[in-house]
Amino acid sequence: MSESVGVDNLIALDRVKDDSVLAASQVNSVRQNLCIQHVSKSFQSKNGSVYVLEDINLEIKQGEFVCLVGPSGCGKTTLMNIVAGLEKADSGEVWANGRKVNYAGPDRVVIFQEAALFPWLNVIKNVEFGLKLKGVSSRERRDIALEYLKMVHLTRFQNAHVHELSGGMKQRVAIARALAMNPEMLLMDEPFSALDAQTRWILHFELQNIWMKTKKTILFVTHNIREAVCLADRIFILSTSPGRIKKEFFVDLPRPRDDNDVSVAEYSTKIMKELKAEIDKVVKCEMDADSCVECDIKCTTVEPAKTDIGGGI
Ligand SMILES: Nc1ncnc2c1ncn2[C@@H]1O[C@H](COP(=O)(O)OP(=O)(O)OP(=O)(O)O)[C@@H](O)[C@H]1O
Ligand SMILES: [Mg+2]
Repeated sequence: MSESVGVDNLIALDRVKDDSVLAASQVNSVRQNLCIQHVSKSFQSKNGSVYVLEDINLEIKQGEFVCLVGPSGCGKTTLMNIVAGLEKADSGEVWANGRKVNYAGPDRVVIFQEAALFPWLNVIKNVEFGLKLKGVSSRERRDIALEYLKMVHLTRFQNAHVHELSGGMKQRVAIARALAMNPEMLLMDEPFSALDAQTRWILHFELQNIWMKTKKTILFVTHNIREAVCLADRIFILSTSPGRIKKEFFVDLPRPRDDNDVSVAEYSTKIMKELKAEIDKVVKCEMDADSCVECDIKCTTVEPAKTDIGGGI
């Protein structure tokens, strides 16, 4: 499991249902930051029950950078929300930093696609916000905020208002705000997906540098395989309907990585081949659903056994 491989013999490890990997004794291991055990989740909707996640098992070591990649709707955000404690699993358990996750906690800070900054506060006050809630003195929180604004290269914008920032700058403030809380773990749900390619490229370097400096554990969701290869130690590919962990890839490339490196492109191509089957499934499912609507046929409850339209992933 812990084997890492080079690009010539990149392997996808069909696994993850191996319960021994997730033995309870490992849950409290100091090296293990996150342990997701047998997590399943459904939602009730007007059309019945939607089975979103099935028996998700994964573990992340302290200081690891892990990406989740999968087609739209496969349950990446749902899984992230369960880890964050914002959503409850129907079954299974999540352990973070040696404690069972029941609620949101300051040890797991989420960074969303939209920076979600407070528009009535300037940049530095946004970064200080969580520290103020924690009761940190004004002088100390200013020092901490400045330290992290420096890390994301926004010191000179400390007094700017949120509306004066570009999208990329807003995300950098969100990262500084998250880091200022000194969490054990950053949970990043497509944080760069709304940004242009050039800004994204810059932020890939910045995030890698921040990660190398802080050694925070990072769980990062993306659709973008090249982004995942550029950032991650390991990549999990989720299948869809319901979301399951299909494959795991180790990325053994030196850092900092550049999206445009040939080696990053080679890894990405191999992973894309794995993901394509899942994307095809989503497209087929959506086209089938459209024809159901066109024919005025009422779609019925989506149950696990009926949704595996690709068969046996
Ligand atoms: N609160 C909810 N109520 C009902 N269904 C939900 C709810 N939240 C998510 N879903 C459904 O669960 C499935 C997974 O959603 P989720 O947002 O986790 O997917 P995702 O992989 O993050 O997709 P994307 O890549 O588009 O962000 C979708 O079918 C979605 O419609
Ligand atoms: Mg999502």
